[in-house]
Amino acid sequence: MAGTPVNLPDFKKRYGSWALVVGGSDGLGAEFARAIAASGVNCVLVARRKPVLDALAEELRADHGVEVRTASIDLENEDAARALGTAVAGLDLGLVVFNAGAEASGQSLLSQPFSTWKAIMRRNVDTLTEALYNFSGYFKARKRGGMIVIGSHASFAGCGRAAIYTATKGYAHNFAESMWAELKPHGVDVLSFVFAVADTATLRAVLARKNVPLESVNATPPADLAHAALNALPNGPTYVWGYAADSDDTMRGANIRRLTVEAHTNGMVAYYGEEDEA
Ligand SMILES: NC(=O)c1ccc[n+]([C@@H]2O[C@H](COP(=O)([O-])OP(=O)(O)OC[C@H]3O[C@@H](n4cnc5c(N)ncnc54)[C@H](OP(=O)(O)O)[C@@H]3O)[C@@H](O)[C@H]2O)c1
Repeated sequence: MAGTPVNLPDFKKRYGSWALVVGGSDGLGAEFARAIAASGVNCVLVARRKPVLDALAEELRADHGVEVRTASIDLENEDAARALGTAVAGLDLGLVVFNAGAEASGQSLLSQPFSTWKAIMRRNVDTLTEALYNFSGYFKARKRGGMIVIGSHASFAGCGRAAIYTATKGYAHNFAESMWAELKPHGVDVLSFVFAVADTATLRAVLARKNVPLESVNATPPADLAHAALNALPNGPTYVWGYAADSDDTMRGANIRRLTVEAHTNGMVAYYGEEDEA
């Protein structure tokens, strides 16, 4: 699966010739980049570690003959959304994957100074929201584009020892579903992609810290996840790995979630009436 093309025949036509992978240096983000590049789409890769980004860029150019740009941006910085815009300025951007977002300390809320959590919130909420707001306007004006927001089973319920992680993932999940409702009529696809455990560098570091063998956690290969997400992008707003679209699980079945988001949106339209002109 790693480095093979996406299974959507009109992928490039639908999403344009450049993709931005935010958190695209290793693990799941790198597999998104490999699948996108294998499909003939150029990539802008963003993360903090420039040498890791540049090594992946070299690999993608050599294996797939695409153009690749890299930018070292810390998503915890206040100007990160603006920096993301600068990284893709002037390109025929059609796809954004917002992958960065893990918080793997396992610390309880009050064990840490608030500044620790504020940094996570800046990356997972502030930067994510501002960047996707900006890209939404760009895609809406072009009447095409796609955005994938990487979620987690932590999106669906509160969880001790992961309070800020689960809260920010819940936020991103609802935000993505709402963007889907508002942008789908304008030809823009949005997907909240949710899964339980992925075999990433971050996961491996946590397991090593705890002396837990990788085999015991049933981690999914990130290439499988990246392909599933890209293939599911036209069928938002949500895809939960391991659950059939017609699953009757009201939280995780893609079809039920779509109906729920549509029903809630229709309820808002009925309640508020036509939107005032800006
Ligand atoms: N791994 C799992 O088991 C699991 C399970 C459920 C959901 N998820 C979700 O899957 C996504 C990927 O998780 P992951 O395990 O690969 O860990 P991650 O720590 O989110 O790392 C993913 C990528 O994001 C980049 N990144 C992290 N913090 C950044 C920052 N402040 N600024 C810029 N780039 C940053 C990393 O590169 P640099 O370090 O070079 O910046 C890396 O390229 C996350 O959204 C996570 O919530 C993961």
